[in-house]
Amino acid sequence: MSNLLSETVTGVRHWTPTLFSFTTTRDPAFRFLSGQFTMIGLEVDGKPLLRAYSMASAHYDEQLEFFSIKVPSGPLTSRLQHMKVGDPLLVGRKAVGTLVQDSLVPGRTLYLLGTGTGLAPFASIVKDPDVYDRFERIVLVHGCREIAELAYGEELVTRLPQDELLGELVAPKLLYYPTVTREAFRNTGRITTLLQSGKLQADLGLDPMNPARDRMMLCGSPSFLADMVGLLDGAGFREGSNARPGEYVIEKAFVEK
Ligand code: A2P
Repeated sequence: MSNLLSETVTGVRHWTPTLFSFTTTRDPAFRFLSGQFTMIGLEVDGKPLLRAYSMASAHYDEQLEFFSIKVPSGPLTSRLQHMKVGDPLLVGRKAVGTLVQDSLVPGRTLYLLGTGTGLAPFASIVKDPDVYDRFERIVLVHGCREIAELAYGEELVTRLPQDELLGELVAPKLLYYPTVTREAFRNTGRITTLLQSGKLQADLGLDPMNPARDRMMLCGSPSFLADMVGLLDGAGFREGSNARPGEYVIEKAFVEK
């Protein structure tokens, strides 16, 4: 049996010249936990060309959804961005990843910190009712260079509280903090700086960072992750794994060179 499923594209949305999202059919046998990723791609010259992508859809959704950058010279995204409804997409049978609830010890506030397309796994996590049972508050933080890059997340958090099934869970618990670094906006600055100074927490009416009750999931560029890990380790947070849960977990966002 091949380790790849052949799915069909059911929708494509372009958010900015460099960001798009797409949906595909989902094999009922493909299971994943909110926050996990799999390999997806296209057949090129008779061979599968694959990259790691986090599922942005909920684990219970009938379709799969992905959120991607477009790299003009990228072997896969230069092709993926031209996908149309009805086109085939290869999807790995196995989902993996570290951004899972069982790698965190129980806490009160869950921070989901993403830069750029690092938002994708959190788009799945904020749709998971289980997460709202585990935490008193979920804080979704999205850091981008420009306001236009926030659009996918903005739409998600506007839609969720109105959702027939999830709305009641989400509305009182989900806080959203978008921030940009390269133009004027209501929130500006890097996530690291905003957390360290306590500005982000103060803006949301939350207490300063505290490893006794705060839990963090991070997804973004390698330099963002390195700086966040330094910050969290210095503040007494420990990285968690399935074998030994801790106060934070990290995953590199998919970036195509
Ligand atoms: P900045 O504009 O100051 O570099 P990128 O598109 O390069 O991945 O960046 C996405 C967002 O992440 C940008 O707002 C960027 O801010 C920010 N960022 C990049 N590197 C870091 C870092 N080391 N720590 C915190 N934020 C970062």
